[in-house]
Amino acid sequence: MDEFLKEIWAGLTANPKYLPSKYFYDKTGDELFVQIMDCPEYYLTRCELEIFTKQGGDMAIAIQDRLKTFDVVELGAGDCTKSKHLLKALLAQDTDFTYYPIDISANVISNLEEQLPQELQGLKVQGLNGEYFAMLESLGTLSARNKVVLFLGSNIGNIPIDDTTGFLKQLGSYLAPGDLLLTGFDLKKDPAVILAAYNDKGGITRRFNLNLLQRINDTFGADLNLAQFEHLPVYDEQTGACKSYLVSNKDQQSHIGNAGSVTFGAGERILMEISQKYTAAQTDAFAIATGFAPTAYFTDSKGWFLDALWTVV
Ligand SMILES: C[S@@+](CC[C@H](N)C(=O)[O-])C[C@H]1O[C@@H](n2cnc3c(N)ncnc32)[C@H](O)[C@@H]1O
Repeated sequence: MDEFLKEIWAGLTANPKYLPSKYFYDKTGDELFVQIMDCPEYYLTRCELEIFTKQGGDMAIAIQDRLKTFDVVELGAGDCTKSKHLLKALLAQDTDFTYYPIDISANVISNLEEQLPQELQGLKVQGLNGEYFAMLESLGTLSARNKVVLFLGSNIGNIPIDDTTGFLKQLGSYLAPGDLLLTGFDLKKDPAVILAAYNDKGGITRRFNLNLLQRINDTFGADLNLAQFEHLPVYDEQTGACKSYLVSNKDQQSHIGNAGSVTFGAGERILMEISQKYTAAQTDAFAIATGFAPTAYFTDSKGWFLDALWTVV
């Protein structure tokens, strides 16, 4: 069975049901995510963009103070809205580096390879289309320089908190002492602000979630009825986990191509995505527990978002 179908099937037959959020990103999913970033409720991009526009130069200096030669790798680059500001600042300082965006979406990688060198004159771009660790493995044969790894937006937040230590240790295993990691962490704040970001009035986040059901229908000839699922975000202030669900609004059965059929009870939920929120102290603790040293902090004027620079010890 194809990997995508295997993972979808495992999620839809699990109890409770889930779908892996990495599959949100086909061409339509990429476009919807760009629209989400423009939603008035989605503060994350605005906060992180403020950090990169105002402090991109300071970030470039912090990097160049620590590494003489390096390549820049971005995990889950998306449309690169924020990292562009840092890349521009690094180019302005006459640094010779290659930018390696890694993304599971083929559409993202082809867009970046086509558009970035036109937007940022002199930038060398080599896209890697696939999963984070498989692509970091391939990168081993492409780049012998130190690495500056960018992991921006809410990408780390999509990893369940109990798996984050394991993820960071595995990431560190592809890096060398002195390499740098710049990670975006969405900080804990007023729960109403957080919840609104995943429940925009224009319904784009709802469409973004339903698009994965459409992708399953289109890819495997499945018959998931999109009209029979509601979008439900839930935020738990204690754990900091914001979870997006699709909820079946009736008892129903769907056929997932050749894999078989799945039943949904009325009110049954499919967990679509986790967006974890942190305290700054928690991010330091993650660094120290996984072989990194907290090195510099970049935050927005509201103190809602943190880009943390860590050094591999
Ligand atoms: C939420 S978007 C964020 C994009 C960008 N980092 C930003 O901050 O705007 C997540 C991106 O990561 C990619 N992605 C998600 N899971 C991935 C995985 N396991 N391996 C590689 N790319 C992944 C998606 O295709 C998508 O482009």
